[in-house]
Amino acid sequence: MSILQVRHLTKIYEGKIAQTALDNISFSIEKEEFVGIMGPSGSGKTTLLNLIATIDQPTSGEILINGKNPHHLNRKDTALFRRHELGFVFQHYNLLDTLTVEENIVLPLTLDGEQVEEMDKKVTYLAKKLGIEQILGKRTYEISGGQMQRTAIARAIIHEPSLILADEPTGNLDSKASKDVMDTLSSLNKEEGATTLMVTHDPVAASYCNRVIFIKDGKLYNEIYCGENRQTFYQKIIDMLSLLGGNSHDLSTIRL
Ligand SMILES: Nc1ncnc2c1ncn2[C@@H]1O[C@H](COP(=O)(O)OP(=O)(O)OP(=O)(O)O)[C@@H](O)[C@H]1O
Ligand SMILES: [Mg+2]
Repeated sequence: MSILQVRHLTKIYEGKIAQTALDNISFSIEKEEFVGIMGPSGSGKTTLLNLIATIDQPTSGEILINGKNPHHLNRKDTALFRRHELGFVFQHYNLLDTLTVEENIVLPLTLDGEQVEEMDKKVTYLAKKLGIEQILGKRTYEISGGQMQRTAIARAIIHEPSLILADEPTGNLDSKASKDVMDTLSSLNKEEGATTLMVTHDPVAASYCNRVIFIKDGKLYNEIYCGENRQTFYQKIIDMLSLLGGNSHDLSTIRL
């Protein structure tokens, strides 16, 4: 069974002028896939992520996560579903600066009342894996952007969610930190089987994915798979982006 199924998803923002942000989009994501979403500014990427994250309601169509439709749950169950099944990584990290790195990472487990010993084991394992074991006792204002994002990734996966949702996880990072974060997401995907959906403008970041879905004007435009070679995949992504058109914002984030 697919981890994520998106079926005929449409989102219209009502207002003085109704805006169709997503127009009948369908696709699915299998377990252990690492999928990128790309498209010009305003094409509906964040809207799509917000619908999957149950932050917003679709106008029509449905989303199934592990075969369940989270939009059919009541408010309390939606909150639990989000906390248990999903992991979030944002452009702006969303870490709490009154807490240490370690406290930030275990926050999702604290909310579920997990045993301290169990939490310690998980943090130690993940921190080592993500190369942040030296900074566990630091506050978030004492660490770099790349370290903050790796902390946020640790927090997003510590409860072993079914699906990790990332919106521009490298958007605020320089190319070195960006590479560290993508190496991290990629190894979590390969070694821990973390199923990941990542929105990005950055073709280098996208080249770490197994598959990239392109959307334009709220519609599915194309999708391409990574073959043997990441360099070739990167070139295919660049070619697709130039076919797709878009605006200078998309090009301004290209790092070579
Ligand atoms: N809350 C809202 N109310 C009305 N219109 C909205 C709202 N949010 C987004 N839109 C519109 O829906 C369309 C898709 O927006 P969305 O934020 O999903 O684009 P995006 O692909 O994430 O763009 P970017 O790459 O700039 O982040 C845009 O035309 C946008 O103006
Ligand atoms: Mg967006």
